[in-house]
Amino acid sequence: MVLNFAHRGSLTEAPENTLPAIKKAVEHNAKAIELDVQLTKDNQLVVIHDHTFSRFNKEAGGLIKDYTLSEIKKIDVGSSFSQNYKGVTLATLEEILEVVPKETLLNIEIKNIPVIYQGIEEILVESLDQHNRLDNIIISSFDHVALEKFQNIVPAIPLGLLFYYRILKPWEYAKNCGLDISSVHPHVSYTDKEFIEEFHKLGCKVYPYTVNKENDYNHLIELGVDGVFSNNPRIFKK
Ligand code: G3P
Ligand code: MG
Repeated sequence: MVLNFAHRGSLTEAPENTLPAIKKAVEHNAKAIELDVQLTKDNQLVVIHDHTFSRFNKEAGGLIKDYTLSEIKKIDVGSSFSQNYKGVTLATLEEILEVVPKETLLNIEIKNIPVIYQGIEEILVESLDQHNRLDNIIISSFDHVALEKFQNIVPAIPLGLLFYYRILKPWEYAKNCGLDISSVHPHVSYTDKEFIEEFHKLGCKVYPYTVNKENDYNHLIELGVDGVFSNNPRIFKK
């Protein structure tokens, strides 16, 4: 079965990574949902891709990490998408966990670069544990040190190795890096047959990001990927 991830929720219908976007993905029966987490100044997990508000609210300057959760909850990130979403704020991970069914695979990406959130791995484990959500989950990150820390706390959770750059023989790196990787999440641009086959030899699923065109999707399926991240889930339906 091909596993398709709604990237940052249903981001064409609602502001990315917010509660409405995640709820839309759930309403569309997404089998898998991806979102990004960071920490507030008071160590609360919030769901956002960028390290600043600039794409969503020009008046809120500085870094996410320098805002407390109560300050963040006063910042509108919905109006820039549409007036229908005026007043929508960043969601906490907890708010998201309340609405994502246990049957939906949840991919939580730790957004740890360039800001490095000390202790985010422990905080994330605690939050998932409190919500009884240590199952049916993939923890991924471009920061492989964060994945190692996560693995040291909870060895059993599936880890997804994210790559942005095209590097030489990433499968050898994956094999030798000491992480127990269950999937690799490469940028789509260099996801080719060799990449897929080499990772399959390691027993890793291959989920490239971000695949938005039907032709690209079909081509990747033919090459043998196990799923994709997409901003456009309509391509899955065909
Ligand atoms: O996890 C897949 C994808 O989300 C990684 O890139 O920048 O969209 O978080 P980005
Ligand atoms: Mg992401």
